[in-house]
Amino acid sequence: MTDHDLTRAADWLRLADRVCVLTGAGVSAESGVPTFRAADGLWEGHAIEDVASPGGWDRDPDLVWQFYNARRENVGTVRPNPGHHALVELERRWGDRFTLVTQNVDGLHRDAGSRNLLEIHGSLRRTRCLGCRAVADRGLDPLGPAPRCPDCGGRLRPDIVWFGEALPEDVWEPALEAAYGCDVLLVVGTSAVVHPAASLIPVAKRRRHPAAKVVEVNLTETEASRLADIGLYGPSGVVLPKLVERLGS
Ligand code: APR
Repeated sequence: MTDHDLTRAADWLRLADRVCVLTGAGVSAESGVPTFRAADGLWEGHAIEDVASPGGWDRDPDLVWQFYNARRENVGTVRPNPGHHALVELERRWGDRFTLVTQNVDGLHRDAGSRNLLEIHGSLRRTRCLGCRAVADRGLDPLGPAPRCPDCGGRLRPDIVWFGEALPEDVWEPALEAAYGCDVLLVVGTSAVVHPAASLIPVAKRRRHPAAKVVEVNLTETEASRLADIGLYGPSGVVLPKLVERLGS
């Protein structure tokens, strides 16, 4: 990350009326939450299609719960890092004109204090009943190997968007609006290979008069880099606080 790029990104932010941020697993890496694509598409030794697809659920729901229970346990031991807190500071400045769209299901943005937050891939803390359809926040307490709905006795599944499933409209529509309407889009800690989440980047660029500026924050270049106007390469827990500091008061 050059000092010049940091200053340019801060300048664009200062002029921006609306700001949108898209985050991925990288923003939580410094908190101790593993990212997804570090090890050959395997998630803790499981093939993605076994633990994060409707087909995997149909084949072996117990394995799916084992996987999500382990992830819930991990998240119970971690805390937001300076990257999450820097994004709260940006929201404090822009208020309703700031939208944080996250692919993360760990809830750390909410723990940090982000409120204009769209969790487009769901949440590890919520369950969905396959019987009565109720969605409930169950925090991070252990749920047991095959949890059942306390209301109707139906089987519960994690309220997570799996591969091959549509994103819930109540979060996806406002995410599209926020990306299309922003002046600066920050793309933080995502490999930008999973769609439709990654399509928010071309959506932000599609608007004319003028198109949004896209600023990528990541350890390395990604699929997002060719659409980014600037890349700030380094850990988001370091880069984002620096960006906020450069913005000044
Ligand atoms: N700071 C910034 N970026 C980081 C850091 C860090 N400290 N550590 C890792 N990264 C970057 C990696 O370089 C990588 O580009 O974070 C990105 C993580 O990429 P993925 O593991 O692919 O995670 P993500 O993009 O969030 O995946 C998207 O895929 O499996 C699905 O639903 C799941 O929401 C997830 C989606």
